[in-house]
Amino acid sequence: MLNIGVIISGRGSNLQALIDAGLNIVVVISDKADAFGLERAKKHKIDAVHIDPKKFKDKNTYELEIVKVLQKHQVGLVCLAGYMRIVGDVLLEHYQGKMLNIHPALLPAFPGLHSQKQALEHGVKVSGATVHFVDEGCDTGPIILQTAVPVLDNDTEETLSARILEQEHKIYPQAVKLFAEGKLKIVERRVTGTGG
Ligand code: GRF
Repeated sequence: MLNIGVIISGRGSNLQALIDAGLNIVVVISDKADAFGLERAKKHKIDAVHIDPKKFKDKNTYELEIVKVLQKHQVGLVCLAGYMRIVGDVLLEHYQGKMLNIHPALLPAFPGLHSQKQALEHGVKVSGATVHFVDEGCDTGPIILQTAVPVLDNDTEETLSARILEQEHKIYPQAVKLFAEGKLKIVERRVTGTGG
């Protein structure tokens, strides 16, 4: 069975969706001590680890500590779920091709922070959610699954975010299952095996 490690910074509703889908999550790591996701993990008897970046001299040594924890748990897939840092060389060296992220927009539109606000300000009629492999860029890796979500006339950042989040909670577990079943293949930028 594939051991999954989840890295978070906050609320952890996507983590909860992965837990509820019955996936084999063996460890949850947060860069923030007060991330609510750590409580969710504990409630489900999953190892919950806070790693404070401020305690390390640089990003590499911080990420080496993350890798140490992931390796201790024999993690074969890393899921970023609301992790608010750009992944650096060390995590990529160890997990590129085995590390996924969920993003609240239809990439490549609106990468980075506040995607739902960016979508509203741009005036798009459709936004959505994307699960992708993580590469060295910010939300630039090969795309696995996407779902479109309509933008309504009276949407605010909050209402649009909530509608997108519902879809995130569906496609993230689906993508993780496809990975766990060994169905995904990356050919250049295209991911096959998603049934599309
Ligand atoms: C989600 O919108 C996710 O797409 C983005 O950050 C948010 C995290 O929410 N990367 P949660 O912590 O999973 O509730």
